[in-house]
Parts: sequence; structure tokens; C-alpha cells
Amino acid sequence: MESRLTTPPHFDSPLRIGSVTLPSRFNLAPLAGYTNVALRLSVRELGGLGLATTDLVNARAILEGKSKTMELLATCPGDQPLAVQIFGSNVDDMCAAAQWLQDRGVSLVDINMGCPVRKVVRTGGGSAMLCDPAGTIRLVERVVRSVAIPVTVKMRLGWDDENLTAPYFARAFEEVGVAAITIHGRTREQGFSGKVKLDGIRRVVEAVESIPVIGNGDVRGIADAARMFEETGCHGIAIGRGALANPWIFRQLDSWLRTGKSAARASWGERLAFMERHFDRLVEWRGEHFGCLQFRRVATWYTKALRTGKAIQQRLVMVSSRAMFEQIVEEIRQRGEPADWAERDVLEFHVSVPSGPIAHW
Ligand SMILES: Cc1cc2nc3c(=O)[nH]c(=O)nc-3n(C[C@H](O)[C@H](O)[C@H](O)COP(=O)(O)O)c2cc1C
Repeated sequence: MESRLTTPPHFDSPLRIGSVTLPSRFNLAPLAGYTNVALRLSVRELGGLGLATTDLVNARAILEGKSKTMELLATCPGDQPLAVQIFGSNVDDMCAAAQWLQDRGVSLVDINMGCPVRKVVRTGGGSAMLCDPAGTIRLVERVVRSVAIPVTVKMRLGWDDENLTAPYFARAFEEVGVAAITIHGRTREQGFSGKVKLDGIRRVVEAVESIPVIGNGDVRGIADAARMFEETGCHGIAIGRGALANPWIFRQLDSWLRTGKSAARASWGERLAFMERHFDRLVEWRGEHFGCLQFRRVATWYTKALRTGKAIQQRLVMVSSRAMFEQIVEEIRQRGEPADWAERDVLEFHVSVPSGPIAHW
């Protein structure tokens, strides 16, 4: 798929978001339920990652110190640069949450304005914010003024095709001091269906004066990244589902951008080792019991990528202890790499997204 490599765009200087300089132009997009400290550290280790962002967290829940929220905020010195993504519609809560994060050394705060799920939209947060321009711009301005660290926004193109408001918001956000915009090239109405609209992302790039715009949506490899840069003029790219399918994507894209050549794809052994490190970190983060439960959500990606066969898959999705995990890994290793193993086409991987009528999400 990527044998005909496109010439990468040239950038004179590294990507900067306010006072923070990023090590690469390829960011890990937040994926609630997955982009916790365990995954972030495991992906960072592979190289090429710019900025990572936490799962979205409710501003009110931060202030109330809810234990689940505190777990989502877990990080460590190696987990940098990191943005914490907050959502909510109460201005005072959003400002206080941003200050709380700043006081604890967080280097960037990202405001979620794209989440389409009912639980978030019902609060007036997430993509519902796209429906109240004046109130939303006021809220963002207040958050920006309440902290010294850079504040960024992640949003969609608009509520639906009749309301493609992202360029308008992007310009207004820049005027009130937002340091960067990440734009997912779909509307709220679209959910995760249909194609990403690159011309919609381009309009956002064109709407701002000087802040970076990070394009997002459906980037799975170099060809997609090349198209994203070329057709939108964006300054960086955020990758979500493609990174779960292929955590080496950052290293590959960063190498392509710097040298014109992709870094090597992962071998079977590297995939297995990555799974072990991810498991270890989930257990370190949440303890053995909950770490195993977290791992179950991702177990089938690994068994599919490693082609372990159904019997091992059925046990790995029920993993309940470290000993059991180690036993299964030992069996996978004993069976060894399948003779005709090749890295699956990452497009075949399925990360579940909300489905059904959008009003029910
Ligand atoms: C399971 C899942 C969880 C997500 N959680 C968040 C989130 O917490 N915050 C957010 O801004 N976007 C969230 N998104 C949207 C992604 O960050 C991203 O915008 C979208 O998946 C498109 O990019 P991709 O094609 O590279 O995955 C989520 C998407 C998925 C599939």
C-alpha cells in the first residue's frame, strides 16, 4: 500500500503549541477507554509521537475529586508532552478545572467540543457547544484567561452539513487566545460514518492567522497523512484508531516526514513484546484485577495481529490474573510466528465506535 511514497511536505521549524514545542507533528488523538497512561507510555517508547491527550474528563468531576476521574488523570514524568482534555458547559467549573490541572504541572489543557455521545452533549458540553457560538466563545476565553498554560480546542466540522461552523469558531478561538485547534473532519451528525472531509479541514486552516491546526480523521498510514497535509495545509495530524491498530504509526510517519522514508514495520516478536508491556502497565496503573479487565478490551486486537488462533483468543479475552496472562504469552511464544505471517492491513482492525441512530448515543 505504501510502496509509492509521496514526497513529504517541508516544515522549517518544529510544531509549537504556545510555549510547548512538540517532538513530532503526529499526535495521539484521545480515545476514551483506551488512551490511558499505560497505552500512552507504551506508544511513546516506540518513538515519533508528538503530543498525547488524556481521555475526555468531566470538569466538575475533577473538582469533586471523583476516583474514576483521578485514574484517568494518572500520568508520570515520562508521559510528556501531555494535554488533559476537559469537557463541561459551566464556565466556573471549566476555569477551576483548568487551574487545578495547571497547579499540578499539566502542560496543556484541551477543551472537548467534538464528542457526540449523549452523556456529554446532554451536559451542554462536547459537540453541543457548537450550537451556542456566543456562549462557547465566552467560555473558551474565560478558560484561556484563567491559566498561563496553552489552551487548545478539539472540535468537529459542525453540527451537520447545514451548519459547518468550525472555520468561524476557529477564528474566534484564535482571537481569544486559543493556542491550537484539532479538527476532526466530520460533523456531529455524521458520527463516525462516511468519509472525512478534507476540504472542511482546509477551511479551518484558512480561517486562522497563525495558530497550528491539527487535522484528524481516518489516517492509517503515509498515503493518508500525505493527503491530509497536501489537501488541507494542516500543521500536524492527530491519529486515533490508526494508532491502536498500529502503534508504530508515529515512528513511521515521523521518519517519512524527516527523511522521505518510512521506518520499518513491526515484526511479530515486537508486536508480542508490545502487548506484554501494555499489559504490565495496565496492571501497574490499575492493579491486577482491574488491569486485567482493561486488557480484555484490547485482547482481540493482539490475538488478531499475532494470529494466535481462536482458542488462545478466547482465553486472553477472559484473562483474570498476571499468572494466566504469562501462561498464555508463553503458549503464544511456543507456537511461534505463523509461517506466512505478515502484518495485517491495519484497515482491517475494528475499534468499536458508537452506532445506531445518533440521537441515541
Ligand atoms: C472509542 C473512541 C473514543 C473517543 N474518545 C474521544 C475523546 O475522549 N475525546 C475526543 O476529543 N475525541 C474522542 N474520540 C474521537 C477521536 O479522538 C478522533 O477524533 C476520531 O476517532 C477520528 O480520528 P481517527 O480516525 O484517527 O480515529 C473517540 C473516538 C473513538 C473511536
